This record gives sequence, C-alpha cells and structure tokens, in this order.
Amino acid sequence: MARVVLGVAGGIAAYKSVFLLRLLTEAGHDVRVLPTASALRFVGAATFEALSHSPISTEVFDDVDQVAHVRIGQEADLILVAPATADLLARTVHGRADDLLAATMLVARCPVLLAPAMHTEMWEHPATVANVASLRERGVLVIPPAHGRLTGADTGPGRLLEPEEIADLAELVLRAGPGALRPDLLGRRVLISAGGTREPVDPVRFLGNRSSGKQGLALARVAAARGAEVTLVTANVDAPAPAGARRIAVSTAEQLRVEMLREAKRADIVVMAAAVADFRPTVVSDGKIKKGSSDPEPVALTRNPDILRELVADRHPGQVIVGFAAETGDANGTVLDHGAAKLAAKSVDLLVVNEVGAEIAFDRPDNAATILSADGEQAIVARGPKALLAARLLDMASARLPDQGSDPR
Ligand code: CTP
Repeated sequence: MARVVLGVAGGIAAYKSVFLLRLLTEAGHDVRVLPTASALRFVGAATFEALSHSPISTEVFDDVDQVAHVRIGQEADLILVAPATADLLARTVHGRADDLLAATMLVARCPVLLAPAMHTEMWEHPATVANVASLRERGVLVIPPAHGRLTGADTGPGRLLEPEEIADLAELVLRAGPGALRPDLLGRRVLISAGGTREPVDPVRFLGNRSSGKQGLALARVAAARGAEVTLVTANVDAPAPAGARRIAVSTAEQLRVEMLREAKRADIVVMAAAVADFRPTVVSDGKIKKGSSDPEPVALTRNPDILRELVADRHPGQVIVGFAAETGDANGTVLDHGAAKLAAKSVDLLVVNEVGAEIAFDRPDNAATILSADGEQAIVARGPKALLAARLLDMASARLPDQGSDPR
C-alpha cells in the first residue's frame, strides 16, 4: 500500500480520473484526491469524496490549522496528476503555490507523474513544449498523451491515456522508482512484436500457442511512456494496444515476418516478444476437414522462417535486437544454459529467458525472467508485473544504443 496524491486539473478528461481513482484504491493504495477549483466544474466533490473516503479541498486556506499542503506533500509516495492541463503544466514549471495541489507539489519530494490532456494545438504550442522539456529536465515524469479523439470531432495528440494505462504506469513508478519512466527513449523508434502466431489448417482450425501478448503490450506501453515512437505488431492479441503505439495486426508467422522486416528498417530497438510457430501445415485445406469415418490423415508440416535470425542478418549499425526464449530445464542443461546457447546462436544483443511451466509466464499479469546480454551482463528480474520486466529490459536496450548525435544512419 502506498500513499498516492491524485491531482485532477480542470479539463474535460477529468471524468476519467474517477475511474483512475477507483483502480488505485482497488490496488490497495491510500489515495488523497486534490482537484483544482476548475476540475470541480467537471466532476463533483462528492464523487471524489465517496470514492477516496477523504474530504476534498482545493484551497490552501481550507483547514488552515492542519497545514494540509505540508502534511499531504511530505507523506506522499507518489503525486499523480491526471489530467494535467496546459495551465497546470505552466503553473508547475513556475513553482506556483496558488492552490492546494500546486502547494502540495512544491512540498513533495516523491516522484511526480503527470498525464497531460489538452487540445492538439495547446500540446504542440511552443510554450507547452518548453514547459514539458523544463519539467522533464527537473525529473518530473510527463507521459506523452495519446493520439485520438478529442472533445469534439477532431483527433490528434492530446488525449488522456486510458485510466488502466495510467494506473499501470503509476504502479511501475511506485515499485521501481522514477527511473523506470525516465524519458530516455525520446526520438527513438522501438518495434515490438507481441502475441502468438496462428497457422491455419483449414478455414476453422489452426496451430497456435498460449501467448497472450501481455508482455509485448507492457513493453509498448512503457517504451511509449519513455518517449519512444512505438510500432507494435500484434499476432492474435485481443487486448487493446497501448495508446502511444501504432498497431499492425497480423495472424500467421509469414505475415508477422513481412511486417517486422519492413518496419525494422527504421527501428532503433527491435524486440521479438511474439511466440512464433516453428512449423505450419504444408497444405491448408480450402474446405473444412470433415470427421469422416476413417482414421485421420497426419498433418504434414513445413518449417517457418526464423524471423529473429532474418532481423539479425538485416540489422543496421547501432540497432539493438532483443529476443525472448521460453525454456524448460532438461538433461542437457538448465534453463539458463539453454538461454546462453540461444543468445549465442541467434546473435541478439539481449535475450529474455523465461522458465515456462503450466503456471508460469503465459496469460498472467506477472512475469519473472533473466535477461542475458551478448556483452556478458546478466540481470535477474524477480516475479512482478510485466511492466517491471519491460522497464528493466528497456534500461538495458537503451544503454546499448549509440548516442543520438552519432547515429550512423
Ligand atoms: N522466433 C522467430 N521466428 C521463429 C521462431 C522464433 O523470430 N520462427 C523468435 C521468437 O520471437 C523469440 C526467439 O526467436 O524471440 C526465440 O524463440 P524460441 O521459440 O525459443 O526459439 P527457437 O529458435 O524456435 O528454438 P527452440 O528450438 O528452443 O524452439
């Protein structure tokens, strides 16, 4: 349980903060809501009070004897502002203390996470751009807003991230500290594959695997929050893609291969988190295969191309390539022995080695793994949310990128 201050600024997206509040309290956190006076023109104080089980005040002069801004600021483990409006960003840059939220932010020394929401023109205005840069320089975490439908019929960057995504990122900062969302991937392009391929047998059947795509989605979410331009190639993933990612949906290994090889040409980091079927049926029946009365024919299989190998063969200077390996220990070696052999065989920069079993890794929100690097680093990531493994992996990948100024392309 952590003490979270949820700041809410006055924008139409303030209604989403109600869902966010709910998610934070359901996760067991002690949440204190600090709306600005204009936020209360969008959402009533009673809603925040009922869901947070705490009184709401907006002004420093409410409950003066309690010196609320000092106490709340000193006790907080995280200050999360969602939505953060252009005005809130500007006031924060200047260290204003003209309401309870602003004063609390000045007192606090815990991580501060801002989720902006505003019209595209306001987000792209040089004043806001400079404010965001200045806040980031100071260590304030500003997550890029999503690209999507705004208040009216217009679309563009400026939409508040969905409450589930913000809650996920807030949890990551609480567990791993502010470094997990530092903006080290600004100006970088990250390509990620996620999910599991399906190889058709006939129009209704396929050979598939148990990958849910959750680890790839977590990687995309954290990379986008760290400023990367993210392309996510999903193979049979139902869950919505993170707001910051451009999504390309595919189904078979061959479709995944085509998209990955094309998109990798412009990527700085490539992560093959998808589970690719090693084989596909040699012949795909046009019609549904009938049960009939005789014994079934065996299904002949053909080897699928190894996409990761092709990506490595195609890599451009400075590109960092990451593979995943789901392993089980056996008579020939431990899980890590197999991982080390695969790292060398595939010539990737980083390999995430998962031990798999009935209960481990697949379709679960958490994961545990060891990350091996070609240059000999080994990082053990204990069981935790998939975003935690994502952040650690991105730390290691971004440390291996060439300096932006010396990009060889
Ligand atoms: N991979 C790929 N193309 C394939 C198979 C796997 O790009 N046809 C990628 C996966 O996305 C993963 C990595 O290769 O990043 C390792 O996958 P894995 O199935 O563990 O490796 P294989 O080479 O198939 O080895 P194994 O014999 O252990 O299955």
